[in-house]
Amino acid sequence: MGCGSSLSEPDEPYVVVVFGATGYLGGAVARRLLEEPFRYRVRCITRRSSGEKAKRLAELGAVIVIADLDEPPSLAKALDGADFVFLTTHFWEDKSKEKEIVRGLNAIDACVTAGVKHVIFNGSENIKKHIGKECGHLDSKAAIEEYIKEVGKEIYHRRFIYNIVF
Ligand SMILES: NC(=O)c1ccc[n+]([C@@H]2O[C@H](COP(=O)([O-])OP(=O)(O)OC[C@H]3O[C@@H](n4cnc5c(N)ncnc54)[C@H](OP(=O)(O)O)[C@@H]3O)[C@@H](O)[C@H]2O)c1
Repeated sequence: MGCGSSLSEPDEPYVVVVFGATGYLGGAVARRLLEEPFRYRVRCITRRSSGEKAKRLAELGAVIVIADLDEPPSLAKALDGADFVFLTTHFWEDKSKEKEIVRGLNAIDACVTAGVKHVIFNGSENIKKHIGKECGHLDSKAAIEEYIKEVGKEIYHRRFIYNIVF
């Protein structure tokens, strides 16, 4: 999904769910989408709504929803009625690629169940396949991307190239 003119004007704003919205990457995406309230209704995901970053997003017009990629039941409510999902998954808090993969698969399973048709995932090339060396957080993102291609036949998915938003 581009932020600009490639989408037709909706009768109702598109509902866009942004994971990692209180972070660097998701925050940039959320703030850009919030500049177009007639086109996008932005639902920002956080594990704790009391944080300053969540409050700032709410002031800009975001709907703040508490959900956790480690807790699948919380994802169903977060994704209900979503037209688009911007998905980032997270490695650095516990530096576990296995946990990041589980978080990504939880999110994708929830998107499939909720009938989300468009997912933009902050993914990665499979570096290990290309150069034969492990690369932590990129390996996990590549594994999630492969899962999207496998199960997300109904999902129009795109890899997010992060430096286009800065
Ligand atoms: N920053 C970069 O330049 C860059 C470049 C390339 C790739 N990346 C990748 O992009 C991803 C995001 O990076 P970032 O720099 O934006 O991260 P960040 O600023 O550290 O933000 C982390 C975000 O992840 C959310 N989060 C963490 N665990 C979560 C969970 N279990 N469920 C739901 N949300 C969770 C946090 O939300 P709450 O704490 O509010 O719950 C926060 O919004 C990472 O995977 C990173 O490897 C980043």
